Amino acid sequence: MVTSSAPGKVYLFGEHAVVYGEPAVPCAIERRARVTAEQRDDDKLRVNATDLTLDGFTVEYDGSVADTPDIDVAEPLLEEGMGYVNQAIEQARDAAGAQDVGFDVTVQSAIPLGAGLGSSAAVVNAAIDAATRELGVELDPREIADRAYRVEYEVQDGQASRADTFCSAMGGAVRVEGDDCRQIPDVPNLPFVVGYDGGSGDTGKLVAGVRDLREEYGFAADTVEAIGDIVREGEAALEADDLDELGELMNFNHGLLSALGVSSRSLDAMVWAAREGDALGAKLTGAGGGGCIVALDPTEGTETALRYTPGCEATFRAELDTDGVRVES
Ligand code: MEV
Repeated sequence: MVTSSAPGKVYLFGEHAVVYGEPAVPCAIERRARVTAEQRDDDKLRVNATDLTLDGFTVEYDGSVADTPDIDVAEPLLEEGMGYVNQAIEQARDAAGAQDVGFDVTVQSAIPLGAGLGSSAAVVNAAIDAATRELGVELDPREIADRAYRVEYEVQDGQASRADTFCSAMGGAVRVEGDDCRQIPDVPNLPFVVGYDGGSGDTGKLVAGVRDLREEYGFAADTVEAIGDIVREGEAALEADDLDELGELMNFNHGLLSALGVSSRSLDAMVWAAREGDALGAKLTGAGGGGCIVALDPTEGTETALRYTPGCEATFRAELDTDGVRVES
């Protein structure tokens, strides 16, 4: 039996635009998904998932989602979740050349599902690592990231960048532009504060919405490119340890994501509350539609403001996690 874990992430800059080849800078945070994999005597996959900040659930999985007792999670989200685990196990089988091996898989995650904190990438990375190690194969984190990307690409119908999976596999702050993925060395201390509205967004639909806008309007395509410009400016601000400039650019990035239709009333309310709480900057993180915002604030101001914001269910400080996917036991 092997347990591996991988971190979630926030986007400092660049979500959505990264799908069209613009750069993005996601940062791993100290909230992890832990996956335990144990070989079975048959070829079935049994998934037991708990702590997905939702009620725990157990699923016997042999090709379809069956028996989902007392689940407080939308069925499509559950099916999508099972799709990720199923595909991750397929990748592990492929990497180890062991097609017919069954697994008992337990997922424990402190990362809310579909909320912009990279829950699926973390679960997929940890599952690939745990299952391959259980089969006696140790993969390089870059190969895990590559295989995890193939899973996201498949589950999200061909609309995925390498950003979430690479960031979670490697840890720290990373830069992703197309297939060019690197870690960013010597990042300053980034005082991230997360606000969570308790909801989630449908990544596939949100990505498709941006694609449609981009095809319909030249200015939407320009907006996507402008996000790329913000990321490039942001990289210079990171290098100069200029937190004020980073905050300003985060505000700008949020405005452009809003223009592309991926924000929501609750995300906007949390972003404004954070700014009124004296955050240096705030934006949605991830696909949007609902879920989380990330603010930059070395003081208590943002957390206090978010606690009194209707629609904000939880707020917490998120430290940068320099560790990527790793074996736990
Ligand atoms: C989702 O966390 C980030 C998006 O840019 C999609 C992707 O990069 O695959 C919206």
